Amino acid sequence: MSRCLEANERIDTRMDGWCLWSVFSSVVTLLVLASACVQLFHLARRLFIHAFAPYPPFTSYGAWAVVTGCTDGIGLGYAKELARHGMNIALISRNPDKLRTVACHIEKEFGVETRAIQADFTKLDIYEGIKEKLAGLDVGILVNNVGMTTELSPFLDVPDGEKTYQDMLLVNNMSMVRMTHMVLPGMVEKRKGIVINISSIADVSPVPLLTIYSATKAFIYSFSRGLAYEYKKKGILIHHVDPWYVYTKMIHKFVRPPGLMVPTPDIFVRSDLRSITKVQDTSGYWFHNLLREVGRFGDYVAPTAATNLVGWVIKIDSERSIKKQAELEEKEADAKTSQPK
Ligand SMILES: NC(=O)c1ccc[n+]([C@@H]2O[C@H](COP(=O)([O-])OP(=O)(O)OC[C@H]3O[C@@H](n4cnc5c(N)ncnc54)[C@H](OP(=O)(O)O)[C@@H]3O)[C@@H](O)[C@H]2O)c1
Repeated sequence: MSRCLEANERIDTRMDGWCLWSVFSSVVTLLVLASACVQLFHLARRLFIHAFAPYPPFTSYGAWAVVTGCTDGIGLGYAKELARHGMNIALISRNPDKLRTVACHIEKEFGVETRAIQADFTKLDIYEGIKEKLAGLDVGILVNNVGMTTELSPFLDVPDGEKTYQDMLLVNNMSMVRMTHMVLPGMVEKRKGIVINISSIADVSPVPLLTIYSATKAFIYSFSRGLAYEYKKKGILIHHVDPWYVYTKMIHKFVRPPGLMVPTPDIFVRSDLRSITKVQDTSGYWFHNLLREVGRFGDYVAPTAATNLVGWVIKIDSERSIKKQAELEEKEADAKTSQPK
């Protein structure tokens, strides 16, 4: 009799354990499914917004937009597109000739005012000058775009590493902190304004051979999220953008000509500007958003494997770009020797 009771108790305990396990695993499965549904919903929403949402009334935030790194690539794209929508543009870049050309083009093409400010963001003594030149402007949008990278290389092999890394931190991060610190008080005073922070998909997971670049971009992700929380109630939108490849001079060595996956800066910027009042965090373009979600998922479930995979892909990219560069140099040399003297 007592043996029977003991056996029954053991079965009961096993049943209890089994019940607990099945409840636990059902709850975990439900949570995973619910979070996947939420992520998919946000992804679908972003894809829809980038393709179809109407542009917000940019000038209602202020008459001027300030764009850093504006004479080429993505920055030039924002400057032109915001001017097309009637904003005056304060252009900040380091090359005075290119600045003049861009300012003339924007004024003629879009009939708005410009203010060209020459500044090199690898320097720290530029900010007082920029502040003086922006004084009195009703700034509605700040585009923190300026950025630099290095060739694909292990940490110690980047030429003149100490100076290069210092420059990269100053250009990619310090410029963003100082420009936001300069412009935000005016926005807070009128309780409206938009700050667009251009990061990179390299902020999702470390990118070997571009280690410092991806670390500077991870800083931008964290900075933007924190700032968005602090200033949301004060009417300020902090819009974080982390694109994959956009066809500019920064990356033309690594990628094929522009296409569906690698948009031109103009196409990319139009897609992102549809979203700036609607999403805080985006890659700016439909395909880049898909890719980013895959990257985030990989980094969440298997971070080491994700870094290994990214490292492997980047190494192949690096070998391809070295080969492409050698072919280009060979062609140029051939063209020179075959020219009649
Ligand atoms: N292209 C991509 O695929 C890609 C992908 C992800 C993220 N991003 C990010 O997007 C941003 C723009 O990249 P991009 O590809 O458009 O670059 P880009 O074509 O190389 O243009 C960079 C712009 O910044 C200016 N600039 C560079 N260094 C400067 C400095 N020290 N001081 C002042 N101005 C400076 C350049 O002016 P100058 O006329 O003087 O050269 C140029 O106008 C960067 O933050 C980059 O990290 C780009």
